Amino acid sequence: MMKKEWWHGKTAYQIYPKSFYDSNGDGIGDIPGITAKLDYLKELGVDMVWISPVYLSPCADQGYDIADYYQIDPVFGTMEDMDELLEKAKKREIGVVMDLVVNHCSDEHEWFKKACEDPEGEYGKYFYLEKKKEGKLPCNWRSYFGGPVWEQMPGSDWYYLHVFHKKQPDLNWENPVVRERIYEMINWWLDKGLAGFRIDAIINIKKPQMFKDYPPDREDGLCDMGTVLADTSGIGDFLREMRDRTFRPHEAFSVGEVFNAKDGELGDFVGEEGYFSSIFDFRQTVEGKSVDGWYAARIPTPDDYKRCCFESQREMEGTGFYSNIIENHDEPRGVSHYLPKEARNSKGKKLLAALYFMLKGLPFIYQGQELGMENRCFASIDEVDDISSRDEYQVCLEAGLSPAEAMEVVSRYSRDNARTPFQWSGEENGGFTTGKPWLGLNENYREINLEQQRNDPDSLFAFYQKLIGLRKDPEYRDTVVYGKTEPVLEEESGIMAYFRQGEGQRILVAGNFGQEERLIRIDGVDKGSFRLLLSNGGEPVLDERGMVLEGLQVVIGVV
Ligand code: GLC
Ligand code: CA
Repeated sequence: MMKKEWWHGKTAYQIYPKSFYDSNGDGIGDIPGITAKLDYLKELGVDMVWISPVYLSPCADQGYDIADYYQIDPVFGTMEDMDELLEKAKKREIGVVMDLVVNHCSDEHEWFKKACEDPEGEYGKYFYLEKKKEGKLPCNWRSYFGGPVWEQMPGSDWYYLHVFHKKQPDLNWENPVVRERIYEMINWWLDKGLAGFRIDAIINIKKPQMFKDYPPDREDGLCDMGTVLADTSGIGDFLREMRDRTFRPHEAFSVGEVFNAKDGELGDFVGEEGYFSSIFDFRQTVEGKSVDGWYAARIPTPDDYKRCCFESQREMEGTGFYSNIIENHDEPRGVSHYLPKEARNSKGKKLLAALYFMLKGLPFIYQGQELGMENRCFASIDEVDDISSRDEYQVCLEAGLSPAEAMEVVSRYSRDNARTPFQWSGEENGGFTTGKPWLGLNENYREINLEQQRNDPDSLFAFYQKLIGLRKDPEYRDTVVYGKTEPVLEEESGIMAYFRQGEGQRILVAGNFGQEERLIRIDGVDKGSFRLLLSNGGEPVLDERGMVLEGLQVVIGVV
């Protein structure tokens, strides 16, 4: 029997503060904007929010480049605003999870500034500093945002390592002083009453012992960080120490952004004695991606989606809990990415919602997902802010794509798809701001917005409320949270179906990605045994042949 934890039954919601709600008309979402919308979150039914970074930052990577961990960036508000948010969230029994970005800081952090002043001094040891060897960079790793991971320190012959942008120098976790300062900061925040942290890019904190070259995988002569991380071991010592010094004594929730856990290591990460409470399941987000870049990626089909989900469910069973998503601030919108074009309507969006939400694990809803917000079509690279999209645009051009073709690729994968402002209403700027939004809204905000869905019992928003309600319902909660996932009809293309087997209770989730009606037969599921709990189109037809699902229908029922 798995040990029960306070967070197991929760439903989490990710807020991208810059694009959630702007309280003062400067076009940028802020902390008072989140506080103003707490009642909305309560109405939706979520009980935990993860807020992307709001710390002091030059914003080279939207706040994932932190200049001071103890300060709130003025565009987002003040520390008093943060304290007020924590207090008001607590009153509503909503736990606040902040983003913990400690693989790197900003090049404008005082630690880095001091390191630049004296690379051989105390602060130089906070970073990875190397000199060229025989005129060559220390190694040929490619940064996630393009180009080599090494950048020259201003006015010296030292180079510093940055696996992300050059404005994000990596912190040297091998230095115990750095680790101490990080734990101190984490505890300072946890003492304020946070529910926990989402831990950014954490798998990168351990580098191989030597900065050595790996075989290049593109014409730039560089190699992907994935290759480098696969050749790294020993991260557990850091993660265990961080857990024991910070999260554990606070009984805090922690969810890691872990892309590259190795086979057989899952238990180390999220088992009962794991480093984290949970990690995100990224299997379906990386499906089809290529080291060559976005232009070479293959869009997953519904069958790919199903296979990925089931592989992850099987892998995790008996070990711990994945955190399940269909999108986040780094991904395209889930409904645009996983649903075939003809299924991108309210019915299809409910289908995807139910199939992912009912999987075992902790569901995270990304802001606007509950409204069915979609990818935006970017006409020119000037409309795109995201640094990763800008790099990928160049990669497309270098691979011989025309600017128009490159924009098609960028529109499909850009992180800005998820970063357009939240669509509160059909008014000017979607009710997000009274000023000029920092990033253009999706043109469809007049059709897709909260105001239009809020009081419609058939809306996607209402459907998410019901899904969350089911997760909390004393009658089904145990099965929804702890029941084992048992896939069925795995070979049936276009159908995704599974049982959640609880103690003395069994729930079936079955959906049809196609437009045509489909007859499915599942042992034990018949007219006498099936009782509908939720669907996106009334009762399914059940007769002696089996169950008939309409095109895009999804059903959840007890059998
Ligand atoms: C994570 C964040 C992403 C950021 C990167 C560097 O992947 O989710 O937004 O760019 O780390 O901090
Ligand atoms: Ca603002």
